[in-house]
Order: sequence, then C-alpha cells, then structure tokens
Amino acid sequence: MLLAGTVLHAGTDAGVSAATSGARAAYENPALTLEQRVEDLLGRMTLEEKVGQMCQYVSPERLREAAKRRPSGPVKDDMTPEVKGTNLDKIDQMVREGRIGSFLTVTTPEEANRLQSLAAESRLRIPLLLGIDAINGNALVAGTTVFPTPINLASTFDPELVERVARATAVEVRAHGSQWTFSPNVDVARDARWGRVGETFGEDPLLVGILGAAMVRGYQGSPALGPTSIMACIKHMIAGSQPINGLNYAAADVSERTMREIFLPPYEACIRAGAATAMAAHNELGGIPCHANQWLIEDVFRREKGFAGFVVSDWTDVERLVSVHHVAVDMEEAVYQAVTAGLDMHMHGPGFFEPLVRLVRAGRIAESRVDESVRRILRAKFALGLFEDHGTRAGQAAEVTFTEAHRQLALEAARKSIVLLKNTGSVLPLGPTSRRILVTGPLADSPSIMGWWAGRQPRQNYITIAQGLKQAAPAGVEVSWFDGGDSVRSMPDAAISGAVRAAQDADVVVAVVGEKTVRYDPDKTSGENVDRSDLELVGRQLELVQALAATGRPVIVVLSNSRPLASPWIFEHVPAVVEAWEPGCMGGQAVAEVLFGTVNPSGRLPISFPRSAGHIQTIYNHKPADGWHTYALEQSAPAFPFGAGLSYTTFTYSNLKVAPIIHPGEPVIVSVDVANTGSRTGDEVVLLYMRDLVSSVTTPVKALKAFRRVTLAPTERRTVAFEVAFDQLALLDRRLRAVVEPGEFSVMVGGLNQTFRVEAVQ
Ligand code: BGC
Repeated sequence: MLLAGTVLHAGTDAGVSAATSGARAAYENPALTLEQRVEDLLGRMTLEEKVGQMCQYVSPERLREAAKRRPSGPVKDDMTPEVKGTNLDKIDQMVREGRIGSFLTVTTPEEANRLQSLAAESRLRIPLLLGIDAINGNALVAGTTVFPTPINLASTFDPELVERVARATAVEVRAHGSQWTFSPNVDVARDARWGRVGETFGEDPLLVGILGAAMVRGYQGSPALGPTSIMACIKHMIAGSQPINGLNYAAADVSERTMREIFLPPYEACIRAGAATAMAAHNELGGIPCHANQWLIEDVFRREKGFAGFVVSDWTDVERLVSVHHVAVDMEEAVYQAVTAGLDMHMHGPGFFEPLVRLVRAGRIAESRVDESVRRILRAKFALGLFEDHGTRAGQAAEVTFTEAHRQLALEAARKSIVLLKNTGSVLPLGPTSRRILVTGPLADSPSIMGWWAGRQPRQNYITIAQGLKQAAPAGVEVSWFDGGDSVRSMPDAAISGAVRAAQDADVVVAVVGEKTVRYDPDKTSGENVDRSDLELVGRQLELVQALAATGRPVIVVLSNSRPLASPWIFEHVPAVVEAWEPGCMGGQAVAEVLFGTVNPSGRLPISFPRSAGHIQTIYNHKPADGWHTYALEQSAPAFPFGAGLSYTTFTYSNLKVAPIIHPGEPVIVSVDVANTGSRTGDEVVLLYMRDLVSSVTTPVKALKAFRRVTLAPTERRTVAFEVAFDQLALLDRRLRAVVEPGEFSVMVGGLNQTFRVEAVQ
C-alpha cells in the first residue's frame, strides 16, 4: 500500500531514484490524474522496460503442465507453443527485470499474487496484467460457475441477463487474480462447419453487437475501468468466422462491403460500450493477415471507429506471419509489420522482445511508436487500480465463486436458452403417460454441456442431462439411464442394441446426441481448430436414434452441440427435438425442467440451421438473389431459420402499426400487439425486421432491427413498441458511405407486414 503525503518527483532522474530507493514516485500517487501518472511513469522507463510491457507470457504453472504433456518426435509448427522457446526457469527473473508485462491463464490466486510480488520487486514496480479466457464464466478454472456458452446466451435474446452473467464472471475472475478476459467473441458466425460457432452470438450483426456490448458493460462494470472491473477483449478482428472451407485460420475472402455490413457493426457496438481491448484475428483479410493489417487496426478501428484501447495479438500470430502466412521472412520483419500495423501487445512468449528492441535501436520503428502502445497498456493498469492494489485477498475467491446466487443465474440463463425446435403431437412436455423414461446417448452424462472454454470441473459442480432428468422426475416417474459410453466418434454395437432393449421397457425415450466440445477429450468434434466438413451427427448417433425410433416408442432428441447440426432424418421423423446447446453447469437441470414442463421453453435460434453442409450460408439476412434458383435435388431454405423456437403456449400477433411517412432524422416507431392465446405463461421473443424495398445497392431480404423478450400470462395481450433510429435504415452506397435512401421500406413482425415511406431530404 502507498504512503500518503510523499513529495512528488518531477524529473526522470529524481523519479528513478525514488522508485529504486523504495520511496514513492509521482506515478504511484493516486491523487494525480491518470494521464499525469502514465506520463510520469513512461518518462522513467528504459526502452527495454517499455517493450517488456508489450510482452505477454503464458503462466508458469500452465507452461509446466504443457511441458509434461509435450509429445515426443517432430512437432508441427507450434503444436506446443507454450513451451517453444520459453525458458521456464528464467521467467521469474524476467518479471523482476520488467521484461514481462502480462500473463495469460493464471488459474490460482496464489500464483497471481506470487507473480505480482515478483513484479513489485522490479525497478519501477509496475504490476502485471493477468488475462484469461473467461468465456462462459471463469470456466478454465476448476470450481468456478460455468455459465451457458455464448450461443446459449444468444438464444435468450436477453441483453440484461447477458450483462448479469458477465458481471458475475467478472467477480469470479477478479477474485482469482486476473483483470482481463479474452471475451466477448463478436465474430458473426456464417459457416457452421467452423468449430468456434458456439463461442459466438450467432449470425445476426445486430444481435451480436447488442449482446457483445452487454458483456462489455458487465465485465467492465462501469463506463470507466475500476478496481472491480475486468477488461473485455473484443475478438477476433475480423471476419474469421467465414473462413474458406470452414477451417479455422483460413482466409476470410470477404469484400469490404461484407466486412462493413456484417462483421464490423458488432465491434462498433462494443467500442461504443467502452471495450478496453481488442484481439486481432488469426486469418488474413483480402490477402493481408489481420496482424499485419494497418488499414484494419489503425485506419478502421482506431481512426474511423474511435477504438481507444489496446490491441493484443492472438496466440503466437506474430510468429505465424512467418510460419503460416509467409508474409515475413523472419521474426524481426514480422514484429515490424505487426507493430507498424498497430499491435500493442504480443501473446505470447519470447519471440517479440529482442526483435522490437533491435528495430527501435536501428531506427526502423520510432520509440514514440512504442510509447503509444505502452501508454495504452499503462492506462489500463492504472485505471484498474493495480498500482494501488494488485493482489487478491486469501479466501476471497472461495467466498465469491460458485455461490448460490451465481448457480441460480447459470440456471436462469440455461432455462431461457433452450430452444424447442419441434414438438409434433405435443409429445412434450412429458405428461402422465410417460411414467417410464429411458435416457441414453453419448451426451447424456457428459461434461460437454460446459463448452469448449471449460477446464475439468469437480463432478459435483455440474448437473448432466441424465442426472437432471433423474433429479427433476416427478413422483411416480422413473427415469432409467442406459450408458452406452460417451464417445461420439465410435459407438460399439452394444451401445445401440442395449439402448434398444432398454427402450422396450420405456414409455418414452430421450436420446441425447450431438457433438463433444470437451477441450481435454480427444473424442471432441467441435471447438477451436476442430472444424468439420459436414454437419450430420457424428459417428453412429443417427443410427442409434433410428434404432430407438424403430421400437415404436416416442423418441425425444435432445441436441447438445455448439454449432448448427443438419440431420434431416431426425428433423423429419422424430416427434420432438430440443436444442440445448451447451447450457453450462446447471444445464442438465434446465433441460429436465423443459422436458417435464416446469419451465416453458423460450429460447430462439440465433443462427439458422442449414439442411446440410452444402447449404452453408443459408443465413436469414441474405441478399435478394440468393436462393432465387434452388438446388436440383433439394430445397434451399434452412431446416430451421434464425429466430425459430417453440413454446408450450401459443402467441398471436395483431395490430402492427408504423407511421406511414418518416422524415429524415426521425425514428421509426413501430408497435404490435402480442397475445398469449394458450393456457400457460410463456416468454415470447418479438423480432422486428425491416427491408429496404428498392435500393441503389442490394440489401438483405430482411434484417433484424430490434427485439424484445416479453413474459405473457395466459390470455394476456400486450402492445410492444419499438423505436428504430433513423440511421438504422442506412445502407452503404456504391462508395460505401452510410446513407438512408428515400423510398419504401417494409416492417415485419410475427408474420405481419406493413410498409412506410422515407421522405427525401428537402
Ligand atoms: C484463440 C483466442 C484465445 C487465445 C488465448 C487463441 O488460440 O483464438 O480466442 O483468446 O487463444 O487462449
């Protein structure tokens, strides 16, 4: 802690001696403004200390684990990048020397405190920034609350809930000693083969932006960073979610128009919400790797969109300018390109420090350019309060982690995220005729409900779907679980024949199938770098469902997966299909409550389900000519469109109203009546779309402009009003300028349609 009333030192020399002698230096005085403190500190730093601030390393504890797992024999590029080139024994000393400014994936408060105390021994005592992939909760850390994955959160269409989830995550992260999460992922998912769809909020730019901004607010806690904030990191700029062939890392060959219409708007929303950091994407954009793309980082993000935070590289992507993209001959050239492009911090390892120091000494990069990055990083450290208090109190993590309140929040989010895709003959909710329920399938008892960014969690901390069904079964209902193994890739004959035998004694069968995303399980088929060339159920799961259906028992398919799946047979023949996604640690309970009907399903798809991998990009907001011709042997429409999702009650829409004439600058006020015409209380997600009917450039057949989730009791009718800002009617004209063109627009809500006219500017 700091001493009050110490004399401030103005000049560099005096400051250095103050810092070295243990007396307080000006930058250590919280009474100064943030900018004064930054400038004072910067003025005292050597070039090496500055470059050190730009260097991030993987935490020593994780490096040690990785070293144990290191495969023998030749490794592909950087298969064990945590280890490559990093001298574990020297890390502590490098922190003391101020050559490391940040670590990622520190998982215990003890290690966080230990590293911070090493930093406190450095000449200028600059605290470390500790970052972690806390994507759905601080889930890489054992014992934390694992919230539903982002694709689940998107299915809730509930920004307020999403903000609360992010706030709870921030509390758990900060108590474990980190102050930065590499989230939200605001990539707009446009290729279901890509293994990272589950980390995103789906295919619609407006929804992704609104939820991304909600997460930014939740993580950071207030418009300005403070001692309870964790910094958000908007990633990955940009467009890697539409990679060639669906393969992670592959080129994003998107036009500037598509980039600006689809991929950029969510970043703009998050920048407006104050996102403190951003991460560059693995991929190239139009021939230029994002990490070397000055136009993208400096011109578009910083100058045009006003991003004021700092930019971190993705995992060893500066190195990959040499090894994968082949745009740099060696690391010195790669560092030159990345720093010139606007990169502020290198994730991760020793490859960056020496080349950058050399580049500055040789005059190729001005020291003032390094200063810009260091300023941004130091601003964050000061704003987070790290100079005042960088440690975590013993016992703090245990007090605030996996609390009852956080578990209830995880449950609420899971309940609201489950999407009922099909329910023929009202087989759901399970009623009095379903006294004997068989549950089976490789995902029924799997930790995969916690998603790609969850590490191993204690078994008692999560409720699987089979377990949830057993626990939630009403009196007199017997749930039996046939365990045919948890592999999705390979299923023995006995898993199918045994399940079929067990089904003979059941009134109804719940088959839990899908994809495994468990990062530590080699059986996984989705996640980062786990992409697919088709979208059918993996392995023999379809055969299992077909065999179960052949018994004549009603089969309910519960999907647990992180990307849209295309299983036409199931969608056609099975009476009920529930999309659970990866609903987090309380997910099994939420799924069971939906099946038993104690919770009325209310999730809606934030992404279309294509009919097959050949139908990739049957996105809902497509351009008019897409799908004008259809396939020779198939329809072109998606199996389930964006927004799909059933309820156990029914909703009807009427009375759609919009002012017929809109003058330039005026918002469009739309209202519609929504009524619950069924017999149960339920949540409806009201989705408002618009279309520019004739425009100078092609515009989507419909685009989401607003949405609202409302709860309605039976017979309740409510008028839901929306205000759509005038500039939301804009298109990008032939010169990519945002303009609202006069003419006719249509408004679509709940199957109703109205038109209005935008008047020309006088
Ligand atoms: C991913 C990022 C992640 C980083 C650190 C990368 O491979 O693309 O999303 O934040 O690793 O774990």
